[in-house]
Amino acid sequence: MADTEIDLDLDFDDSQDPIWNPALLAIPMPGIRRMVNLAATLDDVIHLSIGQPDMPAPAHVVDAATEALQAGQTGYTMDAGLPELLEALAEYYAERYHRPLDPENFLITTGATEAIYLALTALSAPGREIILPDPSFMLYAPLIRMQGGSVYNVPLRQENRYQLDPDEVIAAMDRNTAAVVLNSPSNPTGTVYPRETVEAIVEEAAYRNIHVISDEVYDHLIYDGKTYPSVLGCCSDLDHVMVISSFSKTYSMAGMRVGWLVASQGAIRKLRRYHMFTTTVANTPCQWAGVAALRGGSEFVDSMLEEYSRRRDRLVELVAQTPGLRGYRPEGAFYMFPSLPEGVDGNDVALRLLRETGVCTIPGGTFGEGSTNALRISYSTSIDRIEEAFERIIPWMEKQDFT
Ligand SMILES: Cc1ncc(COP(=O)(O)O)c(C=O)c1O
Repeated sequence: MADTEIDLDLDFDDSQDPIWNPALLAIPMPGIRRMVNLAATLDDVIHLSIGQPDMPAPAHVVDAATEALQAGQTGYTMDAGLPELLEALAEYYAERYHRPLDPENFLITTGATEAIYLALTALSAPGREIILPDPSFMLYAPLIRMQGGSVYNVPLRQENRYQLDPDEVIAAMDRNTAAVVLNSPSNPTGTVYPRETVEAIVEEAAYRNIHVISDEVYDHLIYDGKTYPSVLGCCSDLDHVMVISSFSKTYSMAGMRVGWLVASQGAIRKLRRYHMFTTTVANTPCQWAGVAALRGGSEFVDSMLEEYSRRRDRLVELVAQTPGLRGYRPEGAFYMFPSLPEGVDGNDVALRLLRETGVCTIPGGTFGEGSTNALRISYSTSIDRIEEAFERIIPWMEKQDFT
């Protein structure tokens, strides 16, 4: 979520003024913003709350954006995106998942956020239901509700390492279901769904004319040498899938705001028109930077992965030493979602932890109504800072009486 100086608490209260579209009430005050706003008023805060890579973007990517600006690439591109980027993406995906894809299967958006916005709001409507895992990334549910659609939550459980049970998803599908949202590796849990889960859901959804919207922004942050089961590698055709990703996490380009959506050519044609009436086109020089990222080899991603994998291992050890936190071994992204003792409210714990120790985490309830009993910890910060944070967290947790 973008940083802003606006007081969102006040802004949210204002949205109850009858002048505003009541649909805006579907947008809650984000738990992340509440924590980060409070942290900004405190000294010596350690952030375990960060949702973007903490390393600089590769030099050749930054150079490509600068060169594009200097070469006068400051106008609009074609509405679907810069042809060179569409071409590069089609080649990259075709090679990665061994399936033929054309540039016409892609739409370049302003970050994955715009692609999520287009996909969810194009499918959501009164009387329609969209299935979401709980917890999931906080953007999805409000966008569905803003269009009058409803959310059907499928609970994820810590004891199953937040794996999604495909049978529960299939059992939730009915004639009002318009779509299922998948996000693997997951924000906030770091869980990677195995191929069998993805295949079972994609197959059943296609059979019932339901779309699978797959948010794959962390598709390169997969640890332990595993192969990533993308929806694109698990579907027989693209008729019922929309796959979303971006450069934000893979190349540390979050502020450059370039993402995309992969779908059937028919769906892309429909969404192109919507995109033209939403953001027109994505940022032109940064689309050139995207071409350089895709064509620039895997050195940056490999070294980032190695670093995150080390941090993940250290975090798993530290959480295991912390009374009151139950952890597990996340397989992707840069988050862990340890649970608290039963009945304990993560909101209360996160606020007190921040005020009393200066460590900023995100309360679980930010990611779903059924997920209040947890904290999201991001390890997108150095091992030294993670260790320093736990030197504060462990003694604080030892003093808590959660009974
Ligand atoms: C699961 C997930 N999807 C989408 C996004 C947004 O990505 P982008 O910066 O490409 O808009 C994020 C950012 O935190 C995310 O965690």
